[in-house]
Amino acid sequence: MNILLIGDIYSETGRNVLESNLQRIKEQYKVNFIIANGENIAHGNGITERYYHFLLDNKINVVTLGNHAFGNQDIFNFIDDAKVLIRPLNFPNNNPGKGYVTLKYNDITITVFQVMGRTFSNNVLDCPFAATEKLLKEVKSDLYICDFHGEATSEKIAYGLHFDGLVNIICGTHTHVQTNDAHILPKGSMYMTDLGMTGALDGVIGVEPSLIIKKFLTGMSVRHDPMNTGKTQFCGLVVDIDEHTKKINDFKVINIIE
Ligand SMILES: [Fe+2]
Ligand SMILES: [Fe+2]
Repeated sequence: MNILLIGDIYSETGRNVLESNLQRIKEQYKVNFIIANGENIAHGNGITERYYHFLLDNKINVVTLGNHAFGNQDIFNFIDDAKVLIRPLNFPNNNPGKGYVTLKYNDITITVFQVMGRTFSNNVLDCPFAATEKLLKEVKSDLYICDFHGEATSEKIAYGLHFDGLVNIICGTHTHVQTNDAHILPKGSMYMTDLGMTGALDGVIGVEPSLIIKKFLTGMSVRHDPMNTGKTQFCGLVVDIDEHTKKINDFKVINIIE
């Protein structure tokens, strides 16, 4: 089967890029299952019920979030009913939502989960490694797919190698910059440090550049208005995995600049 993972969809530009490319990618790679990061889909910060449904209408199977999970207050109105919306598994237990979802695909089960890295993060987080060990022990599934949402490449790589052979696909999100390291790990898992971002190409990780440049020049806080002009990018990864033997047959990095 072919699984498409899509990097952080950023604001209106990201939504437009998704809509204009998805059908073609699905046909080209015979995609069977799609996971997309939606933590920035609503004006760059969080997700609303409307945009969650926009993703479902685009046949996304699982929507992941991240540190911006609760960035838009609308999430508190629908997160309890959103069956395929997940936030980091290692958020504190008292946080709303869930960290994984198990879905049936033909005769197998696929568990998609998200953890968040602790290096360079201001979030209150349990250990992502321990949270994953617990999940693997408690939730039995044919396939496990992890969205590792984190800043530090070293933490993501260490995690990938630690869970190599146990978690079948481990792909990073959050930095909004696609890494050139998609490969199969020694024990057979698919790994990529960051899928990249789906949105404007010449913003500063999605934000109108003049604002962020001002922030770096002055040290003053600025509004984070999305960049919505210029070139765009669609970033992700297609993984061809044998869902029974769990062997990665092939993979293709998606980076479409228009
Ligand atoms: Fe993001
Ligand atoms: Fe993030």
